Amino acid sequence: MKKLLLLAISLLTAIGSYAENYTISTPNNTLIIEATKGKAAKFRYYGTTASLEEAKALGKAMRYDAFHAFGHHAELPYAALVKFPDGDNAMDLVVDGVEQSKEGHITTLCITLKDTLHPFRLQLCYAAYDDCDVIKFSTKYINDGKKPVVLQRYMSASLPVLSKDCSLLSLHGENKNECNEIVEPLGFGTKILSSQEGNRTAFPTHSSFMLSLEGGMHENSGNVIAGTLAWIGNFTIEFVNAALPQRPTVIMAGINPSASDYTLDGGSSLKTPELILSYSNKGKGQASRTLHYWARHHHVLDGTKLREVLLNSWEGVRFDTTQANMESMATDIAALGGEMFVMDDGWFGDKYPRDNDKTSLGDWVVCRKKLPEGIGALVKMVHSKGIKFGIWIEPEMVNTKSELYEKHPEWVLRHPAIEPQTGRGGSQLLLDMTNPKVQDFVFGVVDKLMTEHPDIDYIKWDNNMSMLDASSQYLPMSRQSNLSVDFNLATIATLERIRAAHPKVIIQLCASGGTRLNYGFMPYFQEVWTSDMTDPLHRLKMQWGALDFYPSNILAAHVCSHNNKYTQRHTPLKFRFDVASMCRLGVEMVPATFTPAEREYAKRAIAEYKQIRPIVQQGDLYKLISPLEGSREYAALNYVNSDKSKAVVMIYRLLYTFGMPHRIVQLQGLDPERNYRIREVASEFENEKLAIEGKVISGRLLMEEGVVIPELTQRYKGNHPINELRESNDYRSVILELVAE
Ligand code: GLA
Repeated sequence: MKKLLLLAISLLTAIGSYAENYTISTPNNTLIIEATKGKAAKFRYYGTTASLEEAKALGKAMRYDAFHAFGHHAELPYAALVKFPDGDNAMDLVVDGVEQSKEGHITTLCITLKDTLHPFRLQLCYAAYDDCDVIKFSTKYINDGKKPVVLQRYMSASLPVLSKDCSLLSLHGENKNECNEIVEPLGFGTKILSSQEGNRTAFPTHSSFMLSLEGGMHENSGNVIAGTLAWIGNFTIEFVNAALPQRPTVIMAGINPSASDYTLDGGSSLKTPELILSYSNKGKGQASRTLHYWARHHHVLDGTKLREVLLNSWEGVRFDTTQANMESMATDIAALGGEMFVMDDGWFGDKYPRDNDKTSLGDWVVCRKKLPEGIGALVKMVHSKGIKFGIWIEPEMVNTKSELYEKHPEWVLRHPAIEPQTGRGGSQLLLDMTNPKVQDFVFGVVDKLMTEHPDIDYIKWDNNMSMLDASSQYLPMSRQSNLSVDFNLATIATLERIRAAHPKVIIQLCASGGTRLNYGFMPYFQEVWTSDMTDPLHRLKMQWGALDFYPSNILAAHVCSHNNKYTQRHTPLKFRFDVASMCRLGVEMVPATFTPAEREYAKRAIAEYKQIRPIVQQGDLYKLISPLEGSREYAALNYVNSDKSKAVVMIYRLLYTFGMPHRIVQLQGLDPERNYRIREVASEFENEKLAIEGKVISGRLLMEEGVVIPELTQRYKGNHPINELRESNDYRSVILELVAE
């Protein structure tokens, strides 16, 4: 009996020491990993705050390899595959050590796994925030041997999920058609989201996803895992859903290993990009709000600063960047209450003036023919109007017709034996960022501009070409497959260097619009040009998709001219302003073309936007009616500030049908106990008030009973100067500001 008791105790002790569980938490999320020295690390739980005991009781606990490497324990698909010097591919990973640390808002758990077969380690790191439900996953690959190894698959994260009935939301797009939101059931098999463009990571698919765990994707209900991989190069996100009840669905995310076998020298390591994850038990809306908060407070450069209203010259004058045009637009945007003027493409090139997209990239000197007084005089002129000055550059590129290419043909990406594939204008090429001289040059483009003109306030950093030739003239042949990783690591290092030297200048990220929209860039950029597509109907849907993952203040949204250049669609000025006011408002047209009534209206709309800007740019977003679902006749959303004292409601009627249903919109995120005074913002009809104007209504009633939309959008019938351009009853909108009494 005594023997039996002793055996039981020693067994219990053994089990106890076996089960070394590490919990890391955010306010509402928990991650539990089992890490016992000498054993494989196990993934136990990820979800809403719970203890392991609770997770077990709910059937939500698991015990799968935390990170599976090829060759051993083949219960899950492998996230790591390494070719060792002797040709061996197998690894046997066991826990070597665990470290926990806390810095600022972040607690980090790092588990080091040692390969028992080779001198090689993996470090799995999980970083949890204490003020928002975000945990970042990343993995470091460490070659402890003397000889190089080849990483053939080197994911950042592997995450088992206990659901076989998932729905997946992802974003897809290209130039002028960015951020198309797709929701689909995740069937059995493997679903892959990936990009192989080399340097334009949001093209054709974004490295972001939402996975609902109960089937369907709902704004306000259900368990949803939101993830976004912060990486500026080729990526892969794989969802493996085997038709085997005992296997979980596995999410793996990381650098795309295709054509990217990565040679890792002896004694060196590679830290893979972070997968940012949030777990919501209140649907996708809550996951978006968490990512927005995290991005603004912890990730995007100057994320909590308000963004200015600006005019960008591109759609207005394209390459006709003359002194007179710049002055006229700058004068107009200042008079309209704008805060910045940005001179886009066409200002540079000495030997080869930039009159079209076929020449001059690389020659970052002012084109005296167009701007005889130079940049300095232009900055001064713009500042004299009381507004800021911005300038366009595309520093990673060169045209074959340029002084730079004449001097340094060896700086471009190309295969030595074949003519390089040119991009935009039939003459654009991509500089080889792996070459340290190119890195210096790219740094120098910004550094020289900012040193010569320290009062430049803003830079639009463009990138209009993918990696069409994936061959480096700098890397040796034996390292060509390191290109896509090393190229992008060098880009990041160069951006870091630029930011160390010039921390304040606002830099907008652009890549033929939004084809680089990715969190990997956002520690260096304050905002993103969402798309060259400025048609408000198309834009509204794109912004809707982008807002799934990115906060409104980083998404530049500009008002185009009445007849959109790309769709030929005619839309009212108010609708164009109201769609752009969802995000960071700007203007992308020649204000001199405004009628006096339009000018008056634009002035009012800009002034009113500035009034509601703190709520729009920093508030919590609640999507109310999706333009992508149902009849697609309406869209509606509201923003609420952090203490719920103010809100902004935006309602869009996209399509008019006779006898439209009296659609009701219930607001969200308000304080049910408070009363809000309601005011219409940027109305076209100053003398014609809405029934709701000036009324004080409780948050409870606004959320429970809601507002009937046609009551707000139907009234615009009569003749009004600004109505002259109305050709139909489509494209009506209303913005309301709510202030708690
Ligand atoms: C890209 C950008 C545009 C504009 C042009 C200039 O297409 O997306 O906004 O800056 O380049 O050439």
